[in-house]
Amino acid sequence: MNTSLDNAVIEATHHLARAGIAQPRLDARVLVEHVLEGGERQLENGQCEHLRRLVGRRRAREPLAHITGHREFWSLAFAVTRHTLIPRPDSETLVEAALAWPAPEGANVLDLGSGSGCLLAAVLSERPDWWGLGLDIESRALCVAGHNLNALGLGARARLVLGDWTDCLAGSFDVVLCNPPYVADPEWPDLEPEVADFEPRIALAGGADGLACYRRIVPRLGDLLNRGGAAFLEVGAGQAAAVAGLLRRHALDVVDIKEDLAGIPRCVVARRRMSRGK
Ligand SMILES: C[S@@+](CC[C@H](N)C(=O)[O-])C[C@H]1O[C@@H](n2cnc3c(N)ncnc32)[C@H](O)[C@@H]1O
Repeated sequence: MNTSLDNAVIEATHHLARAGIAQPRLDARVLVEHVLEGGERQLENGQCEHLRRLVGRRRAREPLAHITGHREFWSLAFAVTRHTLIPRPDSETLVEAALAWPAPEGANVLDLGSGSGCLLAAVLSERPDWWGLGLDIESRALCVAGHNLNALGLGARARLVLGDWTDCLAGSFDVVLCNPPYVADPEWPDLEPEVADFEPRIALAGGADGLACYRRIVPRLGDLLNRGGAAFLEVGAGQAAAVAGLLRRHALDVVDIKEDLAGIPRCVVARRRMSRGK
């Protein structure tokens, strides 16, 4: 027996609400629309069964983006898998800051820890003369980033490389974007199951105080930035001052700290100290 779209949404909402899902109606709508894959308003038997399986996965706290296989970022569609962090709206703060920077024409961009490729793709989509290099230690994330850049028509201006932070990098860049793992060990018990149980630990774990990756990356930033270039580092809540201090100790000037939409300092902007010649 067919089920109407509205009834399917009501039923799915009910099951998700009983499982304690925070926005059950919203998630139910997304799942129903995912199953319908088009403009229809009726679910056939097979689609109802498919929907039941997807609702079951969401009830088990699997993120919606893993179930549908994509997430929007900067109004662009990104494929995501369990090997990529799901792009977060907070990270759009980095994109806005980088686009506001007076970068030269034909700027080259480095995206350290590129994951799904969302940061690199967002800036390249806005600046048709920019070029990009995305780097990640997770080869399966690089595959997803490659797919995303190609699907968005940006593949010809981007290269992707497997690497352990800056170890294999030479050359210098006008814009360095980096959203490193920054969850501190003591914060793990507070993470939602969607994050702790499903998102890649390598994309999240920032060591005892959350700052381990910055300590690896920041000492190399001065060499990686062109004169006039800038680095845009995402930070977790409460980490901006510590990361700014680290940057200053490594001959970088902190020129701005941008807040996200919730007013949390989210993006530390740094440039090479002007006294250094290059
Ligand atoms: C917080 S995620 C950011 C992903 C993406 N840039 C975004 O903003 O959604 C951090 C990324 O860093 C990568 N990563 C972790 N350790 C790394 C390392 N040692 N070298 C390079 N990339 C690393 C992870 O695989 C992950 O894709």
